[in-house]
Amino acid sequence: MDLSTTFTGLRFHNPFLLSSAPPTESESNILRAFEAGWGGVVTKTIGLHPVVNVVGPKTKFLRADADSARLSMKKRPGAALHSSWNWELISDKTLDWWVPRLGRIKQAFPNHMLVASIMAGSGNDTELRHWQELAIACQDQKCDALELNLSCPHMDRPDMGSNVGKDKELVSIVAKVVKEVAKIPVWAKLTPSTTDIVVEARGAFLGGADAISSSNTFTSLPLIDQDTLEFEVQVDGLVSTGGLGGPAILPLSLAKMSQLTQAFPDKSFSGIGGISTFEHALNYFLLGCGTVQICTAAMLDHAIGPGVIRDLNQGLTRFLEKHAGKGWKNVDDFVGLRRDRIVAQSKIRRPDEKDYRGGYDAEGYAAADEVGVSGRPR
Ligand SMILES: Cc1cc2nc3c(=O)[nH]c(=O)nc-3n(C[C@H](O)[C@H](O)[C@H](O)COP(=O)(O)O)c2cc1C
Repeated sequence: MDLSTTFTGLRFHNPFLLSSAPPTESESNILRAFEAGWGGVVTKTIGLHPVVNVVGPKTKFLRADADSARLSMKKRPGAALHSSWNWELISDKTLDWWVPRLGRIKQAFPNHMLVASIMAGSGNDTELRHWQELAIACQDQKCDALELNLSCPHMDRPDMGSNVGKDKELVSIVAKVVKEVAKIPVWAKLTPSTTDIVVEARGAFLGGADAISSSNTFTSLPLIDQDTLEFEVQVDGLVSTGGLGGPAILPLSLAKMSQLTQAFPDKSFSGIGGISTFEHALNYFLLGCGTVQICTAAMLDHAIGPGVIRDLNQGLTRFLEKHAGKGWKNVDDFVGLRRDRIVAQSKIRRPDEKDYRGGYDAEGYAAADEVGVSGRPR
């Protein structure tokens, strides 16, 4: 079976990537990931200035009991993974630390796709030049693509991470500034924490981005323990909002992705959020993603997900075998196949078509023309 695919002009052995996170925070992890069979990796986000993380755990895992409604981070037998919660910042290693390592990784695995995730401020021209500095340094080491982190939900600075990703103009400016120096494809990783992600995606594409990656984690809080009345993650009793990943965000992230792929059916998308099996990844492919990325599931599987990538590759192989009769030979043959099945509520069939007026007068609300809507929904 041919598991390979071409995405933003790059040839991937398979469409499965480790996303930017702890699994890709070091040279040894990335080398192990390529040996394990991942088609590509996105490095832990590289910045120009060192960051300092909180004291204590940066990531914890929330689990659900099968026989009760209990949700807790406490380890216990029989509980199933609900989500990851983290407040980890970008890489705590400097660009100087990363540069020789990126070069060595590419030398060891020239045909595996190494995507450098980068982040800088965006408040003024000096900050914007930092994006260019990071981009040039990574592409000089033969990285295959750049992913702009416009989506980390817990950066303090108002001109970093998801704070940039919430501003369509800044998204556009950052994409444009990086594109000015980039000779390799540029992917923009957007935040799901906005009203309409299509608006920021349009900004990224106007700036010249070659693809959108989505989702980063969703802004969230850990739960409060009913016995201690303390948050399950805290330092000196204090907590700040962090990011939710893992199974809980799969349906949420799919909704964001469907908005994106419907708005830009001809553009490239890398799907992220809640994937641990091929069945999960399939949702993103059928909505129109050409590649997918994984974090939480890999963190829980020997740090870089050797079992996860084996299952993903086997799942895709089995899927292609099952559908060989349709002439499907690789991922491209089914990407986007279910994109157009998502429609407005008013387009969904009712027991009797004429009883439904899309929420207008017959149900007690103002008539369509009274509220300035031309024509009733069919
Ligand atoms: C501990 C942790 C650290 C992360 N660090 C980064 C990061 O540095 N840059 C980034 O773009 N995303 C980062 N992410 C987000 C992941 O790449 C991914 O978008 C998110 O976890 C959703 O995928 P998942 O459901 O497979 O975990 C991080 C996630 C976690 C759990």
